Amino acid sequence: MAPPPRAALLLLLLAALAPLLLLVAPACSAGPGVFQVRRRFPADGGGGGGGAAALRAHDGRRHGRLLAAADLPLGGLGLPTDTGLYFTEIKLGTPPKRYFVQVDTGSDILWVNCISCDRCPRKSGLGLDLTLYDPKGSSSGSTVSCDQGFCAATYGGKLPGCTANVPCEYSVMYGDGSSTTGFFVTDALQFDQVTGNGQTQPGNASVTFGCGAQQGGDLGSSNQALDGILGFGQANTSMLSQLSAAGKVKKIFAHCLDTIRGGGIFAIGDVVQPKVKTTPLVPDMPHYNVNLESIDVAGTTLQLPAHVFETGEKKGTIIDSGTTLTYLPELVFKEVVFEVFKKHQDIKFQNVQDFMCFQYSGSVDDGFPTITFHFEDDLALHVYPHEYFFPNGNDLYCVGFQNGALQSKDGKDIVLLGDLVLSNKLVVYDLENQVIGWADYNCSSSIKIKDDKTGATYTVNSHDISSGWRFYWHRSLVLLLVTVVCSHLIC
Ligand SMILES: *[C@@H]1O[C@H](CO)[C@@H](O)[C@H](O)[C@H]1NC(C)=O
Ligand SMILES: *[C@@H]1O[C@H](CO)[C@@H](O)[C@H](O)[C@H]1NC(C)=O
Ligand SMILES: *[C@@H]1O[C@H](CO)[C@@H](O)[C@H](O)[C@H]1NC(C)=O
Repeated sequence: MAPPPRAALLLLLLAALAPLLLLVAPACSAGPGVFQVRRRFPADGGGGGGGAAALRAHDGRRHGRLLAAADLPLGGLGLPTDTGLYFTEIKLGTPPKRYFVQVDTGSDILWVNCISCDRCPRKSGLGLDLTLYDPKGSSSGSTVSCDQGFCAATYGGKLPGCTANVPCEYSVMYGDGSSTTGFFVTDALQFDQVTGNGQTQPGNASVTFGCGAQQGGDLGSSNQALDGILGFGQANTSMLSQLSAAGKVKKIFAHCLDTIRGGGIFAIGDVVQPKVKTTPLVPDMPHYNVNLESIDVAGTTLQLPAHVFETGEKKGTIIDSGTTLTYLPELVFKEVVFEVFKKHQDIKFQNVQDFMCFQYSGSVDDGFPTITFHFEDDLALHVYPHEYFFPNGNDLYCVGFQNGALQSKDGKDIVLLGDLVLSNKLVVYDLENQVIGWADYNCSSSIKIKDDKTGATYTVNSHDISSGWRFYWHRSLVLLLVTVVCSHLIC
């Protein structure tokens, strides 16, 4: 997506354009040792040799083993006026050190800022203590060389020019233009294994992840800096796929993003309560693509051309927790906005940092319609006015939908559903059965997960690991917004 045009827009746009691994054709898509963001790894393993075979062997063993559930404590708040993202805490290395990483269902690898990094943020505007990962400082850490199985499996074969001891490099470019480059390392991961109602114990596994040597775009700045990004995509390189291949967990996870209190629930395992209705994932897509069938506003179905609902390269509907807002193709955006404001012809819009905003003194839920997205197999996503508008202080509301055409050329025909519309729902990604589903839910409460180890059902509670600094951050942003609004419109 386009870089922020003016310095004054920076903060809000940084919040809005959270990482999505997509849309940008990376300049780096040609050379060896580059992570090809748009390509799915070849199904036949393309001569992947040891890597894919080893993963398959692990996978076979999985069925004979007992699988655990994991609790990933969440922090952050996905409103553009707040942090605009959600993160969790993981531990890596021996002795284990703590890292705060953004959770992103739109990308496939875990990476953290590394000791050797150039332009890695050392401080975070989020008030978190950042830690640089040092492979030499961990007794269990090792560098992955390009002739190792993981590397070959990642790139669909041995890289040209690869000799022993040459590190296996990675490079990821995200949809907002930010990027990370580095090399893969393998080390111990410690996670919170669910062992009782609201109880956890440390569980561990060996995982391969990126050691970030150079960050680009806003990943190099300290405003909303975290230690890295935890990609929850489907590829074999993701932490979830590795944990599953090692027989630690089932390939099912769920999130409940709380825009009311912040944080929420993020868990790996079989969710048994609440029950959710599901829709099939579109097979062989690099992201969580689903088949959107129609859109209603206030119960009236929008008359949209069929191509809006087709799936393919550069079109289709994607569910992505790493994106804050919702992006719609221009045609859909215009129709939706027209229907939403049909009964409010008198409203005057103000452009606040490129958001469409308006004054409204009543309750938006009483004054505006619900938007419903209908998916294959009769699954509906209800988006209420307080979810598609976000408050911006002093009776000012802004529209959380964006016209995709203004953001990026490659993404202009994509329907991208981000945090704002996915929040206050329990969203379940069941990759074992290739379905995704959700149900409206109170994300400050708890869910129940079945532990395959014991057959027992355990409660997983919500968390907000950011509560300590939220107030300060929120206030300072509101102040910033007020200043900008003032300078644009009144003063
Ligand atoms: C990913 O892993 C699965 C299971 O381990 C295996 O069957 C599949 O071939 C792998 N995919 C690639 C592209 O290597
Ligand atoms: C996990 O922890 C156990 C017990 O502390 C240890 O023996 C094992 O090597 C660890 N496994 C990994 C992958 O770090
Ligand atoms: C959501 O759950 C929390 C914790 O159980 C509770 O305090 C709160 O009142 C609930 N909110 C609603 C709207 O029911």
